[in-house]
Amino acid sequence: MKNIIKAGDYVLLYSLTKKRKWLVKVEERKFSTDLGLIDLTDLLGKSYGEYIYTSKKAKLKIIDPTPYDFILNSERPTQIVYPKDIGYLILRLGISHDSKILEVGTGSGGLTTGFAWFLSEEGEIKTYERRKEFLTVAKKNILRIKPRCKITFINQDFREVDIEEEYYDLAFVDIDSPWTIIDKIYRALRPSGRVGFLLPTYNQVDKLSSKINKYFIDVEAVEIYIRNIRMKKGRVRPEFNIIGFTSVIVTGIKY
Ligand SMILES: C[S@@+](CC[C@H](N)C(=O)[O-])C[C@H]1O[C@@H](n2cnc3c(N)ncnc32)[C@H](O)[C@@H]1O
Repeated sequence: MKNIIKAGDYVLLYSLTKKRKWLVKVEERKFSTDLGLIDLTDLLGKSYGEYIYTSKKAKLKIIDPTPYDFILNSERPTQIVYPKDIGYLILRLGISHDSKILEVGTGSGGLTTGFAWFLSEEGEIKTYERRKEFLTVAKKNILRIKPRCKITFINQDFREVDIEEEYYDLAFVDIDSPWTIIDKIYRALRPSGRVGFLLPTYNQVDKLSSKINKYFIDVEAVEIYIRNIRMKKGRVRPEFNIIGFTSVIVTGIKY
């Protein structure tokens, strides 16, 4: 049963008094917090929604994590795609349970984790990363969600590989010079397949814009902001610190 916690599962432990949470793997060890120690084997056999107590008697609610929690609590040797952007891409690129996805620039596996969460055994992701050490971390990050789909990790420079022609439903590209591979991405996509690019600078968007219209239609470039609101009765206002900018998302449909 999904609800019963087993060894190897991940749980979120939430302190109701401190309003803080930790993502932990259930295994034979003690987990140390400023609220006291937690013997993680105490979680075995419990269900999500129940509570456990630390050695200092702090009460923690046991919650099942979402991809948001996994992504924000991942090891990040590279910049990642943030949940706000992944959420939009899921709808804009039309991810469904059986999507065949091509990814260039696995990085830390943030985006791969977000997409893989929604794929069934019929879905498939092929992801390319030229730095072996990043791929090792990405695999570790992604496997935490126990993906049901097939994920193929390829440690190669995408510019040097042969790709399947007209095979993928969608492609996502997060590398510094995406315009160098745009024709290859075009060929890899099935007719009317979707593409998404993530670009951290406007200079890159400018360079991509000179090529993209030759290969893709319905091209759109957007930035997505989240502004947190402090919810304190009688003093509701925006938080002072916001993330001003992450990246530009460019999307299109195969010409
Ligand atoms: C910003 S990171 C990707 C982050 C990833 N989207 C995530 O959410 O974790 C960009 C990655 O692309 C890889 N990369 C750059 N050019 C590449 C190429 N031509 N082929 C394969 N990987 C490439 C880099 O090594 C780097 O790890």
